[in-house]
Amino acid sequence: MASYLLRREHILLDLGYSVIRDKEGSAKVQTKQKKVLPYVEFGISTSMGCKLPLYNWLAPILLSLVNFVALSSAQAQAQLTTQSSAQLSGQIQGPIPAAIQSVQVLHWWKSASEHKAIDVLAGRLAQENIVWHDAIIPGGSGIGAGIVLKSRILAGNAPEIAQLNGVMISQWANLGLLLEFDTVASSGKWDKLFFPTVWELIQPRGHLVAAPLGIHRINTLFYNKKIFSKYNLAPPETWDEFESAAELLQKKGIVPLAQSSEPWQIATLFETLLLSESDATFYRAAFVTKESRAFNDLRFFRALQRLRFLKKFMQLPVQEQSWIEVTHLLASGDAGMLVMGDWAKGELNAWGVPTDVGFACVAVPNTANYHLYDVDTLVMLAKDNASRASQEKVAQLAVSPLLQAEYNQIKGSISVLRNPDLSKMDSCSRSSWKMFSRGSAVQVPSLAHRMATDEISKDAIIAEIVRFFMDDTISVADTQHRLAAISHSLPKRKAGNDAQNTYR
Ligand code: BGC
Repeated sequence: MASYLLRREHILLDLGYSVIRDKEGSAKVQTKQKKVLPYVEFGISTSMGCKLPLYNWLAPILLSLVNFVALSSAQAQAQLTTQSSAQLSGQIQGPIPAAIQSVQVLHWWKSASEHKAIDVLAGRLAQENIVWHDAIIPGGSGIGAGIVLKSRILAGNAPEIAQLNGVMISQWANLGLLLEFDTVASSGKWDKLFFPTVWELIQPRGHLVAAPLGIHRINTLFYNKKIFSKYNLAPPETWDEFESAAELLQKKGIVPLAQSSEPWQIATLFETLLLSESDATFYRAAFVTKESRAFNDLRFFRALQRLRFLKKFMQLPVQEQSWIEVTHLLASGDAGMLVMGDWAKGELNAWGVPTDVGFACVAVPNTANYHLYDVDTLVMLAKDNASRASQEKVAQLAVSPLLQAEYNQIKGSISVLRNPDLSKMDSCSRSSWKMFSRGSAVQVPSLAHRMATDEISKDAIIAEIVRFFMDDTISVADTQHRLAAISHSLPKRKAGNDAQNTYR
């Protein structure tokens, strides 16, 4: 059976509880009296071998308790929500009253800030009588989520909505798997609302198939502000400055650069280094059009060299840690710096570490004039017309200015709207927004986060980078040759057939 978790928090919120989550993303319910109870979600096990969280022995007891309170408090809405949740899991038979709709959303947002951000959207939907059911497939950058989504579609058990980013949108649209909802776009004048890059991304074949939520900046260097002040260090703008700061931190017993060996995290660092050693055109030649000459180029050589060089500033051997764990190293002061997409900022804020107090961010050295980006998007799966109205409502609400401001503030990303409320943004977001709004010349699609190329090419390239990073006996030249050789057999797309491939 495919996996999903059913969310009950709107029932709980109706009853005067609030949901809190710890920094690992585990959710708890807090009563008005500040009593903390375990969160009442229940999981359905998966044949895909994914670990599902929050399945503890207290859940059934609490579930009965909450259902009892919900029913006896005669809150019709809460009761109906319970019915639709249970019905979705096949536990309760019987009709769902027409007024209440439910959508199941498959995604990989599991951390405290990620949850908080989508709670904003789920909350708005609840006001429209649409119940949002989480189908969470944990795993930074969505590795597991993509696999589960594919298998659920093949099994004829697709969710109504899924988080599907980047190039996969056009691939799935080409297969006719995504709902086209052009009328939402035309009635909301979406063509005027978004950055052109975002607009092209969400309507790959001239039909709208995705709702954009936010834009992340990947080439972000976070530094622990207290440590930098204590040792009188300036945020590094060049690699020389980075190196002297890192050496000093090392002398003081602080890990200069937090890093995990998870493949997508190594790739996140490497793509930033490639941009740092080259420019947007070269980056695209390597990761978008995958030209073999780019992999053999001196600029690619330098990026690999720098990746290896930076290892001396990491905690060795580099451990396979989640992005939440490495972000925690920065927050606690065990590490001085971190290269990560700005979802880490959202997470730090969610832990009560404010921007420009506990930490601050600058662009990774030599990348200040670029925005290495990743757009978070929700696609609607083409199922039957019964869900269309709810799916379209989700899309409408996702791009409303109020939701965009609130969601992105929590998530760490910036609004997809051309004219967002800049007053709601902190310094990191403001500089991200200013850079992105300069246009396509400075916008560089992330490889690791699926904006640059198809999954097969992405995985093949990342596998070589990871081998090189993990094994110091593999030479830079060997890695370059292997990548150049592999590039000949990677799928190539015609230039200009979607947002990522267009030199605008
Ligand atoms: C997504 C973010 C997410 C991050 C960590 C990225 O690929 O765009 O929304 O927070 O992965 O999982």
